[in-house]
Amino acid sequence: MSDVREAPAGDFDYETHGGGYAARRQPDARIAALVHSVLGEAQTVINVGAGAGSYEPTDRHVVAVEPSAAMRTQRPLHLAPALDGTAERLPFDDDSFDAAMATVTIHQWRDLDGGLRELRRVSRGPVAILTFDADALLGFWLNEYVPEVIATERDRFPAIDHVVTVLGGDVEVIAVPVPSDCTDGFGEAYYARPEAFLDDEVRAAQSGWVLTDPDAVARGIARLADDLAAGRWDERHGHLRSQPERIGAVRLIVAR
Ligand SMILES: C[S@@+](CC[C@H](N)C(=O)[O-])C[C@H]1O[C@@H](n2cnc3c(N)ncnc32)[C@H](O)[C@@H]1O
Repeated sequence: MSDVREAPAGDFDYETHGGGYAARRQPDARIAALVHSVLGEAQTVINVGAGAGSYEPTDRHVVAVEPSAAMRTQRPLHLAPALDGTAERLPFDDDSFDAAMATVTIHQWRDLDGGLRELRRVSRGPVAILTFDADALLGFWLNEYVPEVIATERDRFPAIDHVVTVLGGDVEVIAVPVPSDCTDGFGEAYYARPEAFLDDEVRAAQSGWVLTDPDAVARGIARLADDLAAGRWDERHGHLRSQPERIGAVRLIVAR
């Protein structure tokens, strides 16, 4: 039996829409290596908004916190089970962990600042946050087809400067290169594989599509399909198909 909340802890209902998450959102090894490197020598790590465990290190002691039962049940067997909890109220004493991490989750929290302060409170070392720079999303070609989805995402993702200010202290912002064969199926992961967006399952694993007007999505996807069939996408963006990596909106924020 799973303990399902009456209302989602964030802005997206994973109990209804999160079933296929782990299949499409496999952690990318290159991004994982970067996340793990900034955790430094930490031996004990708290992973908040842990979902199915993407980017969780396996060579350290990890406590995962995840409010959605549907996501907790998708954790692979080699990872420890996650606690039911939210970023805004972590059930741990001050300075309980060597490091804290939160990947692709802060944009969903009901109280962003409260959650960030909690990460700082329970970690005596670095806090690592993987997120997206909302303004940089405008540079992604998908904005030509479904600006409504990009607008949805820009409304959700907090300004990087704001996160930096709330975290306080010595904070570094790293622009994360996304490989063309990125295994974590967020939007920009498919910059070189435009046909992927025609796949309902790919879009279903990206919450921004689910939160956008379905008519706008249908119109944009139809235009993308037409442009791909007619070679118009390749005329404008075809060089991306062979570009090994791209720096877009993904950011790793490290507060030390
Ligand atoms: C896009 S998933 C990311 C999961 C995982 N960290 C990853 O990198 O794949 C976002 C996760 O944030 C969780 N979440 C939403 N609101 C939250 C909150 N207030 N506190 C903690 N986690 C939250 C969701 O349940 C979901 O599992």
